[in-house]
Amino acid sequence: MALKVGFVGTGGIATRHLNNTAARDDTAMVGYADVVLERAQAAAEQYGGNAYADFRELYDTEQPDVVVISTPPFAHGEIEEEAAARGIHFFVEKPVAVSMDLAKRVLTAVEEAGIAAQVGYMYRFSEALLKVRELLKGRALAMVQAHFYMPGLPPPAWWPYMAKGGGQLVEQATHLLDLGRFLAGEVATVAGRTATVRNWTDVPEGYEPEVMREFSEEFEIPDVTALILEYESGALGTLSCSIVPQGTWDVGFKVVADGLLVTIEGPNARWSGDEEGEVQAAENWNEYVLYDLYDTIIAGSTETTVPYIEGVKSLAISLAGYESVNRGGAPVAVADLLA
Ligand SMILES: NC(=O)c1ccc[n+]([C@@H]2O[C@H](COP(=O)([O-])OP(=O)(O)OC[C@H]3O[C@@H](n4cnc5c(N)ncnc54)[C@H](O)[C@@H]3O)[C@@H](O)[C@H]2O)c1
Repeated sequence: MALKVGFVGTGGIATRHLNNTAARDDTAMVGYADVVLERAQAAAEQYGGNAYADFRELYDTEQPDVVVISTPPFAHGEIEEEAAARGIHFFVEKPVAVSMDLAKRVLTAVEEAGIAAQVGYMYRFSEALLKVRELLKGRALAMVQAHFYMPGLPPPAWWPYMAKGGGQLVEQATHLLDLGRFLAGEVATVAGRTATVRNWTDVPEGYEPEVMREFSEEFEIPDVTALILEYESGALGTLSCSIVPQGTWDVGFKVVADGLLVTIEGPNARWSGDEEGEVQAAENWNEYVLYDLYDTIIAGSTETTVPYIEGVKSLAISLAGYESVNRGGAPVAVADLLA
């Protein structure tokens, strides 16, 4: 029997998950919930199934086996808890929340319900990055240097607000903080600084936003961030982030290990040293993270590759970074946030 799938939040990124789900013949897309009902209706029209303004109605009427949650960072909590209470498995986009308290609450609900809950850290599935992980195993790690440069402010209205989007560290750079854990192990401490280097709110008359915005009437997040991370292995890491407008996305790592220098650009990697090579991720690499959940449920298991706890641990690093900023740049122990 086909896996019954529902969707909560049918905005920007949901399109990827809708298309990837529609491409499988072992799923049935039964319903869509969005607080902007027209968005849910548009999805229902395109993919079949019913539209709802309230996720609870979707859960109770359609009784899906699994829901794909693509809501903004601030809109987590009850959506996951109510799914867990009904035994509905879920996929949730990163970040899992903007606060540790809420993330821990949902974790408890997931564990008590015994459901499968996968977090959308898609980089963990890239063929290239899996190869890098294998190459790094057993080597002494030295530096884990990451950067996340965006060509401006993304279009969703919640992005420029700390309490809604979480800031770039929580919202976007979480991909790299999670990947750093995946490749180099757990982070012990984080020290951070943030700054805002340009005037975003002086919106020029007649300004027409492009795909990425250069201005926003209200803007309360830092536009540049720098972190120093101490890994439990003893390796040091850095992360530089910017949303200051410039021409391009540039997201990646340099990892220095004993005998190896690895360069990661998005989902692709190359390396040199005592081994040399490169791997490009497959064109459809970003669908694996959702398919892993579907395949796990169909196989009768709840053991997914990126369980909810991974989202909680990666969130703790972002929030430790902002906590350090609040403490004037003093190192913050990640374990204190997880306790
Ligand atoms: N993995 C990736 O590559 C990737 C890429 C883009 C976005 N994302 C993540 O996906 C999430 C959503 O981002 P987006 O760009 O799609 O945002 P968006 O604002 O375009 O879409 C979010 C949708 O959720 C709806 N929504 C808000 N609260 C809701 C609620 N309580 N119930 C039902 N629907 C609700 C909104 O109306 C909107 O349609 C973010 O956490 C973002 O970080 C991940």
